[in-house]
This record gives sequence, structure tokens and C-alpha cells, in this order.
Amino acid sequence: MAKMAASVVETGEDAFRKIFKLYKRRTPPPDFNDVIDFSKCVTNDKIFPVKLDSAAVRDSDAAKVGLHPVQDWKAFNLQGYPGFIFITNPFRRGSQPFWVRQCLKTYPQKPNVCNLDMHMSPTDTQDIWTKSVPNLSCLSVGKREPRTLLERLRWVTLGYHYNWNSKTYSANHYTPFPSELHLLSSQIATACGFTGFNAEAGILNYYRSDSSLGIHVDESELDHSRPLLSFSFGQSAIFLLGGTHRQDTPTAMYMHSGDVMIMSGQSRLLYHAVPRIVPANQEVAALEPGQCSWEGGAVVEQVSEEDWTVCSRYIHSSRINMTVRQVLGQGQSFPEIPPLPGHIEEHQEDNTKRKRYSDSPYTEET
Ligand code: OGA
Ligand code: MN
Repeated sequence: MAKMAASVVETGEDAFRKIFKLYKRRTPPPDFNDVIDFSKCVTNDKIFPVKLDSAAVRDSDAAKVGLHPVQDWKAFNLQGYPGFIFITNPFRRGSQPFWVRQCLKTYPQKPNVCNLDMHMSPTDTQDIWTKSVPNLSCLSVGKREPRTLLERLRWVTLGYHYNWNSKTYSANHYTPFPSELHLLSSQIATACGFTGFNAEAGILNYYRSDSSLGIHVDESELDHSRPLLSFSFGQSAIFLLGGTHRQDTPTAMYMHSGDVMIMSGQSRLLYHAVPRIVPANQEVAALEPGQCSWEGGAVVEQVSEEDWTVCSRYIHSSRINMTVRQVLGQGQSFPEIPPLPGHIEEHQEDNTKRKRYSDSPYTEET
């Protein structure tokens, strides 16, 4: 186990929380030496490469959503976490800007739901992008108050809209799931051996450099045999992957722009958290929309220069994460009567828990 981590963990129920706090700490900053960096491509006794099903996804289909051929992806398993797959940036050059633009310009639009809807009228949260761009562009920073809507965006939900209070999805709060994200998700899932994955719900998180995401398990979906997919863009993050119990010591890893993570099988219901956003390497600064003509049938489109100016400025200091979930099993439907809250939360007082009750329930700022 990590040396540094060992020094702060006396084992027992607070192991995850202690490591969370350690990585969240500003002064003095923690030692990052034990954080796994899959992009460094080191394989050792804990990290081993995994061969995905490259025959299951046609190269031309992968290209349509902006992905490299599956055989070129670098995918890894982690010792002790069966079902966890980490794919280091499988996106083709020039395609990440499209997905970033979707997250900032398209997905926050109605009928999707965002944190700002919790205390603003639909007309006020209509077209966050158009309302924010003029003020974002005149970057005479200083004390440019108040912040734009885009800067105040913390989460967006897609498809079956997650209800943060009841911690459930429901049949009557559904809007069409974005088709291009559905297609991207199917291809990732198929390559990982999950044919028929049906993206039905999405939670997008928008992190500033001081944001974090508390320790939690994603268990509200009704079919846990389906994987959970996670896509990261912009600034990097430290991700902590724990065990099935709150007290299990987590493993720390970096998530960089373009990285994709799959939590499935025995790793589907593990505790996890994002204690810290970390500055990205130069690659993010170098991201730019592809000049290449996307072949026929592509869903990834060219991002205009104006749009990219705004997006690149945004991701220069922020991180975006999209998690995609299948909520229902094949042929399954929501129960008529909402299930009783069966899961009793431990450590209710713990402030590292996800807070879901305010307008920014998901991420926490220091
Ligand atoms: C989530 C989640 C992790 C991340 O949305 O459930 O765990 O990397 N996100 O932002
Ligand atoms: Mn999660």
C-alpha cells in the first residue's frame, strides 16, 4: 500500500475520509507520488493492460463519435477491482472539443435540468450559453461580478433526471437522452463487452479548480449488472476508488482530459470520490477542433472558432465529467410504488458525503 497513505490511516472506518481529506488539503499540499497515472503507461503488479473487443466496434463507427479504432485504445484493469476498466483518452485529435461544446452549450439547454433550475425560473435558465458568452468574452477579469450562469453551472441531468432528494429516477421525469451521447456510450460499452448497453440517464458535473465530489456509491439505477461510464474533459482530477464498505482504503488515480472509466461487475457499486482538481498538462491547452472533414454519418461536428474560444477558456480552469447510466434492465420498468428508502446512510454527519439538497448538491467548494 501507498507509504504516505499508510502513515495517515490507522485502518478502520475513517480510512476513505482520511485519504479524501489528505488529497483535498491545500496547505501543505499532499504528496502525489502514489497517485496512479494510467497515461504514463506503466504496467506493474497492480496495473495490467486489458484487451478490449476490437472486432465488436467498426473503426468507421468509432470514428463517427470521434473515437480511435478500439485496437488502438489503451485500456487497463486494476488489481483488486474486477470490472473496473480505465481507458486512457480514446478520442481522436480534434474530437474532444465537440464533446466539451455539447457539455457547455447544448446539454444545459431545456428540457434538460440543471442546478440553476432549483431556484430560477425556466426563462432565466433558458439558453445559459447565449446569456453567458458576452460577459465571459470580455475577460477584463478583475472584480467582474456577478458570475455568469455558465460559471455557476454545477450539474446537468439528462434522460431520466436524477432526483437528488429522493435519490431516485422515475418514469415521469424523463426527456429524450441525447442520441450522439447514446451512440458514444454504446460503443465504449460494446468494446468493453457490454452489448446492448442503453444509455438512459446522465449526470454531468462541472468542477472549478476548488471543487470536489464527496464519497458515494451510485446505486440508484435499478439494474446494477449494467456498467456505469465516466468521461472526463478539461482539467485533471484525482479519483479515489474504494471498496464496498465505507472504511475500505481507496486507491488514488488521475483522470485526465479524454479519459474514460468503466465501473462494472464487482466494481459497479464501489465507494468513490473526487477530492481534488489538478492542473492539466499542456495537452489540454493544445486541444483544438479538428480541421479534418468528419466522414459521412459523423455525429461529431466541427466546433466553430467562436464557440471554441469560450469552451477553451472554460476548460482552462475547469473540469467536466459526464457519467452515463442505464437505469432499467431490459424489459424492466419502474415500480408502481416508489421503493422505500432502503439504504440507511452511515456517517450522515460526515461533510465529505455528497450534499444533494442545495442548489449545488453535488460538488463541494472549499
Ligand atoms: C458521479 C461521479 C466522478 C467524476 O457523477 O457519480 O462519481 O469523476 N463522478 O466526476
Ligand atoms: Mn459516482
